[in-house]
Amino acid sequence: MFDIKHGIKEHDESRQGEALLLEPSLQQKDNGASGRKLYIESYGCQMNFSDSEIVASILLDSGFETTRDYKEADVVFINTCSIRENAEQRVRNRLKEFEAAKTRNPGMIVGVLGCMAERLKSKFLEEEKLVDVVVGPDAYRDLPNLIGQADDGQRSVNVLLSREETYADISPVRLNSNGVSAFISIMRGCDNMCSFCVVPFTRGRERSRDANSIVREARDLFNAGYREVTLLGQNVDSYKHDGVTFAQLLEKVALVNPLLRVRFSTSHPKDITDEVLYTIARYENICNYIHLPIQSGNSEVLDRMNRTYDREWYMDRINAIRRIIPDCGISTDVITGFCGETDEQHLETLSMMDYVKYDYAYMFAYSERPGTLAAKRYTDDVPENVKKQRLTEVVALQRQHSLLRLSEQLGKIQKVLIEGFSKRSDQDYCGRNDQNAMVVFAVDPRYKIGDYVHVLVENCTSATLIGKII
Ligand code: SAH
Ligand code: SF4
Ligand code: F3S
Repeated sequence: MFDIKHGIKEHDESRQGEALLLEPSLQQKDNGASGRKLYIESYGCQMNFSDSEIVASILLDSGFETTRDYKEADVVFINTCSIRENAEQRVRNRLKEFEAAKTRNPGMIVGVLGCMAERLKSKFLEEEKLVDVVVGPDAYRDLPNLIGQADDGQRSVNVLLSREETYADISPVRLNSNGVSAFISIMRGCDNMCSFCVVPFTRGRERSRDANSIVREARDLFNAGYREVTLLGQNVDSYKHDGVTFAQLLEKVALVNPLLRVRFSTSHPKDITDEVLYTIARYENICNYIHLPIQSGNSEVLDRMNRTYDREWYMDRINAIRRIIPDCGISTDVITGFCGETDEQHLETLSMMDYVKYDYAYMFAYSERPGTLAAKRYTDDVPENVKKQRLTEVVALQRQHSLLRLSEQLGKIQKVLIEGFSKRSDQDYCGRNDQNAMVVFAVDPRYKIGDYVHVLVENCTSATLIGKII
């Protein structure tokens, strides 16, 4: 799925929900780039989308303005993802499409940002002749300088990772936003070293952002009319800054205003504490929704994945969620065909899905990533067709569970934050309920985007609840 609007094209390659976009009100400041046009395209997880907002902020501050058409841009940035091989392939293909535009406009600067830049470093310049700058996720403050060098004909790379950079002082330009919900990065990097995962290599060491700057950002968003924030990190449960834990941070953000919904992603099964669960239960505006990736339902596979929990531990965490937050929505990530996965082990993933009955899941066939622990230690020995077959089974089972979960809401009244018009019709509003399910209902002129309404659920598909405002 992708969408081109206002200079930012979103291509959701990882597993995150679709980003909604509306025209951002961009205040151009002229610090020398005087109206040069920037185009950014984002791939990957919400963190990358959020980073593009930081990049845009840095460049608007040095005088750029944005465009929605890369063909008329002076600077074309592609913020990339390395999570699976096909994510990288998509970027390569897209770069080919930029080539014609660059031939027509040789002064155009093409920059590769994000995880693929970090992974491939200067190899990118060798492999892709049209690329002028390669910039890793911790080096975005250097962008104006790197663009200057490229203007002078010098191709350059800055992929230095940092132990401190959190961009805490940069106020993101809300490119990925509908004016109602926004992302707030609360930490960067990851220290977990799951054996399949490239993120620790592309994003560096884990570091948490100062809690006061997070709360300030949430308050500013609320005052600007936003009604929902999603706190982002690869492993939010290990957030820690000056003694503030994730549970305490959640509480601080929830206290900004009871009308501000608080969501967060991603939770790690080994780290999610009962304290976090009790905090969610205590505050009405902290949404009852947890994304808790399982990856595999088999303890031996989990051990090879270096996830540091086993099947029983994960089930215990699910039981704790169900006990403490009885109506909690739960979603997950699943990988099929990891190194050495047998048919029996795959069946344990299916049985775990049966146990939890996830509301939603992001499901992937294992893709070996160079340099990861799994690539070094294990053989990628499950044949491609078996990975795909297992994936098909997982997807089919999840579809049943999604439908089951949504149909449990039939006849119930849900509190929904109106996020915009439905994709199909401007006669309908859409928004999500507390558990993160999309709800569609007829427009009522008494309510506008950003308002909360109560919706009686009358119907559903496997992806959407359909109802009416009461
Ligand atoms: N920090 C998050 C994950 C971010 S990556 C977490 O720990 O849950 C998003 C998802 O991509 C992962 O949860 C995993 O399911 C999937 N993924 C990561 N590496 C992969 C690989 N090499 N092959 C297939 N899927 C992968
Ligand atoms: Fe990757 Fe594991 Fe870190 Fe998630 S927790 S980003 S899967 S290493
Ligand atoms: Fe992809 Fe990097 Fe996110 S690899 S999933 S963009 S952290």
